[in-house]
Amino acid sequence: MDLYDKDVVSIRDFTKDQIEGILDLSEKMVPYALGDKTERTLDGKILGNLFFEPSTRTKLSFESAAYRLGCDVIDVSEMSMTSISKGETLADTIKMVDAYCDLIVLRHPYEGSARLAAKFSINPVINAGDGAGSHPTQTLLDLFTMREAKGTLDGLNIVLVGDLKYGRTVHSLAEALTMFGAKITLVAPESLQMPDDTVSLLEEKGCRPVKTAILEDVIDQADVLYITRIQRERFPDPAEYDKVAGTYRIDNAILREAKSDMIVMHPLPRVGEIAPEVDGTQHARYFKQAFNGVPVRMALLNAILGGELRWRTSTRSRRSRFLPSGTGPSSTTSNAARP
Ligand code: CP
Repeated sequence: MDLYDKDVVSIRDFTKDQIEGILDLSEKMVPYALGDKTERTLDGKILGNLFFEPSTRTKLSFESAAYRLGCDVIDVSEMSMTSISKGETLADTIKMVDAYCDLIVLRHPYEGSARLAAKFSINPVINAGDGAGSHPTQTLLDLFTMREAKGTLDGLNIVLVGDLKYGRTVHSLAEALTMFGAKITLVAPESLQMPDDTVSLLEEKGCRPVKTAILEDVIDQADVLYITRIQRERFPDPAEYDKVAGTYRIDNAILREAKSDMIVMHPLPRVGEIAPEVDGTQHARYFKQAFNGVPVRMALLNAILGGELRWRTSTRSRRSRFLPSGTGPSSTTSNAARP
């Protein structure tokens, strides 16, 4: 897995082997992400976190991942606080931030912005979401969460539900799933179905997604139900949003139709798509999924910035709630057995 100095603009920037390599490394990063072990492989490096759209998970998990590896972070959270507000172009802004750090993470409202940033930056750029385009690091943590829960990514039956038109996470995820032979079902109102160009890409990879608007017809087949928020901010006409708002809601009643080991995932934030009563069920994986952003982004930062892992021995043992069952502190074997 040689990802040194690599841009991450699209999930298509990775081969299947590279994705599996990142997921393997992410698994090893979990105790470091929890703070149970320490490792400063990126000491002296600086991450430039540019978030020109709101974010809780992506921004903070990149920061947490960087700090856990000893990497410093400089950041901007609002375009109005940069000289873009004075008329500076994104290209010039990127050139400047590039001069102040070793890697840029960019979230931006326009599709294609990360590709543009990668063109103007000498240092690597990671796309943290470009408008309705894609969100490749979300896909990596989604795959990590599925593999952790199911033991494999091969041949899973994945049901994608909600805003498949504007939801960038499902665009990247569907493409990645084709590498693993997934059976994909697309559940959305006609106006929010997966864009034709993304469906064509899936078909080119040999996937024949099934489309429907009725979740109840397909939920019993799902290994993974991945639901997304309807992206109100991307609708040109608010009246169109009102027509589809609240179309799907996962609650305990609908989950009675699901397999007992089916997992519910959501990139979050949720705004009513999942009833809070689901949080305590065996199906809920969305908060664990959000935590997984830390080890996965640690693995990615480490690989891109060339951190040398020494895997120090354990210093502390706490907060086992996010560890997969059977791997908590009490069941951890000697650290010497670790790579
Ligand atoms: N999943 C995700 O991208 O969440 P944020 O918008 O909070 O970063």
